Amino acid sequence: MSNSAIAEIRLGAEHLAPDALSVTRRLSGKLLVDGEIRDALTNETFEVIHPGNLAVIGLAPKCRVEDVNAAVEAAAKALVTWRKIPARERGRMLQKAADAVEANAKLVEQVLALDTGNALRTQARPETASSIDLTRMFGGLAGELKGETIPSANSDVLQYTTRDAIGVVAGIIPWNAPLFLFVAKVAPALAAGNTVVIKTAEQAPFCVLYLAEIMNRELPPGVLNVISGYGEECGKPLVEHSAVRKVTFTGSLPVGQAIAGYAAPKLCPVTLELGGKNPSIVMADADLDLAIPGIIEGMRYTRQGQACTAGTRVFVHQDVYEEVVEGVVARLADIKLGNPLDEATDMGAIISEEQLNRTLRYMEIAQATPGARILFGGERPTDPYLSKGYFYPPTLIDGIPIESEVCQDEIFGPVATVLPFSSFDDMIASANDTEYGLAANLWTRDLARALEYVERIEAGFVQVNQCVAPRSNVSYGGLKMSGLGKEYALDSMVHHFTCSKTVLINRGTPGPNV
Ligand code: NAI
Ligand code: MG
Repeated sequence: MSNSAIAEIRLGAEHLAPDALSVTRRLSGKLLVDGEIRDALTNETFEVIHPGNLAVIGLAPKCRVEDVNAAVEAAAKALVTWRKIPARERGRMLQKAADAVEANAKLVEQVLALDTGNALRTQARPETASSIDLTRMFGGLAGELKGETIPSANSDVLQYTTRDAIGVVAGIIPWNAPLFLFVAKVAPALAAGNTVVIKTAEQAPFCVLYLAEIMNRELPPGVLNVISGYGEECGKPLVEHSAVRKVTFTGSLPVGQAIAGYAAPKLCPVTLELGGKNPSIVMADADLDLAIPGIIEGMRYTRQGQACTAGTRVFVHQDVYEEVVEGVVARLADIKLGNPLDEATDMGAIISEEQLNRTLRYMEIAQATPGARILFGGERPTDPYLSKGYFYPPTLIDGIPIESEVCQDEIFGPVATVLPFSSFDDMIASANDTEYGLAANLWTRDLARALEYVERIEAGFVQVNQCVAPRSNVSYGGLKMSGLGKEYALDSMVHHFTCSKTVLINRGTPGPNV
């Protein structure tokens, strides 16, 4: 692209979010290490673009082992005092950090939309709000780091367990919901007395660094560190660092498996939130006024389908198939693609060329499948603004066999397949016929059927007559190849960010013969 073309589209973005662009330019080349926004040790950087128009919004440091070491050392130094601060005092600091983010929310959500291409009104604003809420929640739960007393056979022996900080926690996050996933790792880890180093995703580093900059002002230096870089050269040495005692990751299955492998030699616990190929199921007796909008909400179309819980495999009973498909298609036409920073936009841009190409590749397979029908979408927009960015419309296809890659792989784009069914047993077997086991949604008025589905479906996040996104205070995590461990609720803090001692104390009361 010529320089004049870059200048022109930069002007377009500046017009809508001048202050957000000032933030990404100010944070260009920077990290958060030891309480300071500072230059990286490495001179290498990579470009970060706004997916809506491909404008370069800043340069992020391409950290390698030197910057990893500096961040982990800062976290290890801060740990000595942080873990000794009373838990509720740590929680109060986190709540002040949440207040500070709230005071800057307008700018935070704009930087988020600029970094990710997610629409401001439908995605970036609610994600910012739920990130503030989750930080506050874990701040308030810090006093719940309670052990247990264990009944003893000997009345002289007091037996109990403790809940202690593990140490330095490494978090590796993706780009699809970067603020919420950052907070989901940082807030429980810090509340529990750990210190943290987060590696941002290369596609969306600035929104996280900006959020961390704001939160850091309320925290002692070195407690929260944020670095950027690529997986192999930055993420791997971070996981392998000997001072890192806990790893938490959200992203793809192969990278999750690799990370578990890097952590294995030092027996370092790992929490993994990986992918999904989730069923949305409509029974013949379902309330279609709930099910039809539910399928659309479940597909996370307004996040371009870039969600691990996206209900990408829609199973519809044959008796209501035509009605459901018609209803969904009619509503997809109302979803407005547009500039992510524009309040009128429902659906923004796919994060990157790589992810757009991934969608295009699966669409080619779909289009070449005999009997396949593109019910909606399926072509890149030709509008002059939209054709400059990584936009792709909400897309619905049927006639794809369940064993096709299109029905088996996580596309992570705005593409759903619809499959008719007549037998409940066969449908459940198909729904479970995937290596993943993350989320599942079913619509029915039949309580017995609903409970049978809950029992038989292989998924960690199961909903009936709705399909909301994961949220604060609701424990969330996958079965099968979708992950290891839970997030977003008290149990994630207590079970995944603490270690426990079992203590037996004999009070040594003098016996009767002494
Ligand atoms: P990814 O899993 O490659 O990247 C996620 C994070 O892991 C990034 O911060 C990346 O730098 C880091 N990473 C990559 N390789 C690493 C390594 N060897 N060691 C340590 N860290 C490493 O995901 P990517 O490439 O962004 O997306 C590819 C696919 O992954 C998507 O199409 C989607 O299917 C899935 N995905 C799932 C997510 C979820 O929420 N479960 C989030 C993002 C992607
Ligand atoms: Mg990758």
